[in-house]
Amino acid sequence: MPFRTIIEPFRIHSVEPLHLTTEDERRHALEAAGLNLFALHAADVLIDLLTDSGTGAMSRDQWAAVQHGDESYAGSPSWYVFLEAVQELFPFRHVIPTHQGRAAERILFSALGGPGKVVPNNTHFDTTRANVEFSGAEAVDLPVAEALEPSLVHPFKGNVDVEALERLLAERGADVPAVMVTITNNSGGGQPVSLANLRAVRSVCDRHGVPLFLDACRFAENAWFVREREEGQADRSVADIVREFASLADGMTMSAKKDPLANIGGWLACDDDTLAERCRNLLVLTEGFPTYGGLAGRDLEAIAQGLREAVDHEYLRYRIRSTAYLGEALAREGIPVVQPIGGHAVYLDARALLPHVPPLEYPGQALAAELYLAGGIRGCEIGSVMFGRRPDGSEQPAAMELVRLAIPRRTYTQSHIDYVIEVCVEVARRAPSLRGLRIVEEPETLRHFTARFAHA
Ligand SMILES: Cc1ncc(COP(=O)(O)O)c(C=O)c1O
Repeated sequence: MPFRTIIEPFRIHSVEPLHLTTEDERRHALEAAGLNLFALHAADVLIDLLTDSGTGAMSRDQWAAVQHGDESYAGSPSWYVFLEAVQELFPFRHVIPTHQGRAAERILFSALGGPGKVVPNNTHFDTTRANVEFSGAEAVDLPVAEALEPSLVHPFKGNVDVEALERLLAERGADVPAVMVTITNNSGGGQPVSLANLRAVRSVCDRHGVPLFLDACRFAENAWFVREREEGQADRSVADIVREFASLADGMTMSAKKDPLANIGGWLACDDDTLAERCRNLLVLTEGFPTYGGLAGRDLEAIAQGLREAVDHEYLRYRIRSTAYLGEALAREGIPVVQPIGGHAVYLDARALLPHVPPLEYPGQALAAELYLAGGIRGCEIGSVMFGRRPDGSEQPAAMELVRLAIPRRTYTQSHIDYVIEVCVEVARRAPSLRGLRIVEEPETLRHFTARFAHA
C-alpha cells in the first residue's frame, strides 16, 4: 500500500463498554488491592495491558467454529480438527491438549524434572520456572549478553548464549533432561530468537544427546521477526518458518492464549513415544481424556481456526507495527523502553526511569501502580517482584526492572494507544517524586500474583 498509516485489518463486529473512573476512585481501588494490580476488579481498569494472554478478540470465524464444537467425551471431531491444525504447523507425532500453557509445563516437568536436574532456557517465563523448581529441578537462564541491556538495539535479543549452553552441557549434561527455548522471549522483552541461533542450539543439544523443547507461545510473532530481520528469510511464508522452528525441536509447550488467538487452551507435543505415554498418564490424572485435555470441544475448534489466522501476514504486519507504534512514540518522548520493541508488548525500563528507587523497593511495581493511578492503565511488573525470591528464600534484585505493557490481540484501537502514550508521558513527568514499595504479605511461589505492598 502506498500509505504510511497502519490500519487494523478488521472492523469492529461487537463492542464491550469501557468504564471510566476518577483518580480518587482509582486511589481507593489501588489501596484495597494492596498496590497489586492483579488484585484489582478488572471493571475498574480502563486500558488493560496486564497481559496479552487470553485477552485478545476472537474473529467472526472463530466464533463460528465455536458453534461446531462437538462435546463428545472421547474422539470428538473437534479434537481431529484441532490436531490437524496443530500438526500443520508443528508436525510432532504426539499432541497432548491442556487447559493452558502451565498445565503443559507441569506435566512435562513432572515427567522430566526432579531433584538434581537442571533445565536451561533463554529465559524461563515465571510459570515455567515455577514448574521446573516445583519438580525439584534447577531453572537456569542463558540469554545472550545483549538481552540484558535494555537500550541496546539488536535484532535477536531472544537468542540463547550458545557458548554458555555448551559449557553447561559439558559440565552437567547428564543432569539436563531437556533444553528449553522460549519464542519470543517474553521475560526478556518479547524479543525473537533467530533460526540460526536455534540451529546452533540444536547442534549443541545433539552433541550432548539432550532433547530440545520450544516454549512456543509467540511462535508467529517470532517467525514474523525472522522473516523481517534474518538474512535469506524475507521471501518465506511465516507458516514455513514456523515449521522449520518445529523441525529443529523434539517437542514443545504452548499456551493457546497467545499467538493461537484463543481465550483458553494449550498443548504439549513431542516425538518421543515413551515420554508421550508418561505425559498422557499425567494428563488423565488432572486435565482429562487425551482427546480433549482440559478443554471443551468448542475451545479446540476456536484454537484450530485461531492458528490459521495467527500466521496471516496482514495480521502479523499490523500486530508488530502497532506494538512498535506505542514503543516508538514513548521512546520519542524520552521514556526509556526496551529496544528494539518486542512483538506482543512494550517494556518500560523502570530502573532507568526511577533511578532513585532501589531494586528491592520494586521500581517496576511502583511505576505500574502509578500508571494505574494516573490513567487507569494496568501493566505488569517484570522485575524483582516477579523474579527476586530464590528457591532458598533469599531475595536478590532481578536482572532488569521492567513494566510490561502487553497488547491484547485485535482488541484496542490506535486512539486507545494514543491515550496510553499520553498517560505514560504524564507519569514520566511525575517519576522523580515516586516512592518505592515494600512487601507486607507474600505467598511462597509466584508471589507477584497475590503479594500486598505498602509505600517504603
Ligand atoms: C513464554 C510463556 N510461557 C508460558 C506461559 C504460560 O502460559 P499460560 O498462561 O497459558 O499458563 C506464558 C504465559 O504468559 C508465557 O508467556
